Amino acid sequence: LIVPVILAGGQGTRLWPMSRAARPKQFLSLVGDVSLFQQTLQRVNDQSVYAPPVVITNADYRFIVAEQAAELELALHATLLEPLARNTAVAIAAAAAFVSASFGPEAIMLVLPSDHDVSIDEGYRHAIQHAAHAARNGSLVTFGLLPTHAETGYGYIKANASPGDGAKPIDAFVEKPDLKRAQQMLAEGGYFWNSGMFMLGAGAFMRECASLAPETFSAAEASVTTAKSDLDFVRLDEASFSQAPNISVDYAIFEKTKLAMVTPVNFGWSDLGSWDAVWKASSKDANNNASQGNVTMNDVSNSLVVTDHAHVAVDGLDNVAVIASNDAIYVGKLSEAQKVGAMVKVLRADK
Ligand code: GDD
Ligand code: MG
Repeated sequence: LIVPVILAGGQGTRLWPMSRAARPKQFLSLVGDVSLFQQTLQRVNDQSVYAPPVVITNADYRFIVAEQAAELELALHATLLEPLARNTAVAIAAAAAFVSASFGPEAIMLVLPSDHDVSIDEGYRHAIQHAAHAARNGSLVTFGLLPTHAETGYGYIKANASPGDGAKPIDAFVEKPDLKRAQQMLAEGGYFWNSGMFMLGAGAFMRECASLAPETFSAAEASVTTAKSDLDFVRLDEASFSQAPNISVDYAIFEKTKLAMVTPVNFGWSDLGSWDAVWKASSKDANNNASQGNVTMNDVSNSLVVTDHAHVAVDGLDNVAVIASNDAIYVGKLSEAQKVGAMVKVLRADK
């Protein structure tokens, strides 16, 4: 069985003001009836392929995780709690240490982000099997999507040209390139977007982490060895965990390792990273507008209007995002909605 490891500790700042430090985007129902985190749980709810999942999240989100899993009547193997946010390298390393201790170092983990809109099909299931096979042979496996534009928010993977639809060795991994570099890679061809999902042997990942990111490795391992159980939660030790550098797995491991492979995939996938992406993934009316909640629009086109409480009326605008939460409202150009993340930094500095 594959052990799903669900990363659910990100803050999702670009979806402000719906996504807040207290309730980030993975716990919101942005598309569909259940949250993105719940959709992730549903994707691994197949006992012929997967063990019950291990969730790793910030201690602040423990009750949201428990509540959302219970709502679907899905059991979790464990919820690991981070005392502070240190990004994905140490989160995955701590999960690997935990999985290694509870399932053995040979266990294969499917590491999943909890904030994507994914539609699974036969191709997806095959890709999972190909990737698990390569991971059993010691590779650290990524999943690569064909890029459609020069996006700077993703990792790019250059695959070694080799035939077949299984996992391929990779020549390069470039995390979040600048626009120029992204355009070059798109023009050059042979690159995939990193989907953010990984298939990893728990022991193999820990060995590679020990050699490429020793501080991350020691912090993760020590925080698991001295963790405290609290109801169904495993509280990672704060003194050890806080020694970890704040770095993502893409920079800490995948840009450096020689063990990485890529499984090409072409399932429906969207990183709902911005309001623009939410709009793209939503169903639209005749004027190409998407809305959620109590919304009235007149003479509006190509826009997204979301409200969780107040009645919002928009008149005579094009290409606008209006996002109204209980206590904060965002209005901006929909096509430039990537800028929200930068604005949230300003808001945080203001208070
Ligand atoms: N437990 C935990 N702790 N989870 C975290 C943390 C943390 O400190 N930080 C982020 N996460 C979770 C997020 O909730 C998300 O589910 C996942 O880890 C990925 O983090 P993001 O912050 O969303 O990463 P990204 O989108 O900028 O980049 C990654 O995903 C892209 C595809 O969406 C990279 O892997 C890119 O290479 C990739 O293209
Ligand atoms: Mg993301």
